[in-house]
Amino acid sequence: MNWPWRLIKKAARRALAGTSSCVTVVAILEARATYAEVPTVTNIFKPLSTPAQAIYEISLLVLAICAAIFLVVGGILAYSIIRIRRRPGDEGREPPQVYGSNQIELAWTVVPILIVFVRILATARTIYDVQGAIPPAEAINATVIGHQWWWEIRYPKLGIVTANELHVPVSESSNRKPTFLKLESADVAHSFWVPELAGKTDVIPNRENVMWIEPMQPGTYVGNCAEYCGLQHARMLLRVIAHPPGDFEKWVAAQREPAVDNLQVRAGRDVFFSTSCINCHAIKETKANGKFGPDLTHLMSRQTLGAGVIANTEENLRAWVRDPQHIKPGALMPNMQLTNDELDQVVAYLLTLK
Ligand code: CUA
Repeated sequence: MNWPWRLIKKAARRALAGTSSCVTVVAILEARATYAEVPTVTNIFKPLSTPAQAIYEISLLVLAICAAIFLVVGGILAYSIIRIRRRPGDEGREPPQVYGSNQIELAWTVVPILIVFVRILATARTIYDVQGAIPPAEAINATVIGHQWWWEIRYPKLGIVTANELHVPVSESSNRKPTFLKLESADVAHSFWVPELAGKTDVIPNRENVMWIEPMQPGTYVGNCAEYCGLQHARMLLRVIAHPPGDFEKWVAAQREPAVDNLQVRAGRDVFFSTSCINCHAIKETKANGKFGPDLTHLMSRQTLGAGVIANTEENLRAWVRDPQHIKPGALMPNMQLTNDELDQVVAYLLTLK
């Protein structure tokens, strides 16, 4: 899946070797490659959720109006350039000078007012449909909290806390199950955006914003923080996983379980609980109750590490715990300076947190 990006990256490195923009280009391509591993296309013109559909329809109307204006203005401009261009023998001659025309001035005042009026009405209607939606009784409620640079996801009614992957049931026309989100920030301004599911909504400190999504097809939808929030803004990815009917309940049941306590990994557990890991991370029903970093109770049920930066595999987990700064420079998780033995033990313990 990734090979075209590898080739492009290689070419970019060669073409730009020694220039600073090389780093930027490669970083962008690397970010793009992360997306390439995900089976869905992130595209605002491919709405798969009710609010995204409403926004898509209004954007088609706006695009059509703008295209018509472009054609009229561009057409008149092209006509003027060709038809009344300077010709041989025009030197020293001025074209006829016209001062004021009530008809023309009236036309270019009234027509734009009408266009703007139509767009205001259509936009107001869409905003009302999207923002004024009343949650039905079967709606799922989740709170999404933006952090530098990851997403905390809480389901207050279900007693679940997770990170970076928002699990929701798929909605069917006969059995609608939208998910209503409360958006909060723990630090700076972020923005929650999953293009196929809904518009962007800012995530602002000391403020509670709301939005909703309603995926109509099961699958994984990729989103990204859409408000510059610091060094790793571009790697603050999120995924929405829409489960087919029945599967969501299974996911909920698994997430509500306390963490597995496996005697075989006691050594790693002891290392984990004796370091400052527990000041930032929580593991349900243990003394680890930090709120600063992601909840690790079911760490291994998640697809990625570092908010979408790398796949959640044993090898990557080990590399992440050894030195998060190497994988995500600026991430607020420090290098814990574990010895190789401690690292092996902690990773063995974390791998059991399914
Ligand atoms: Cu969070 Cu950009």
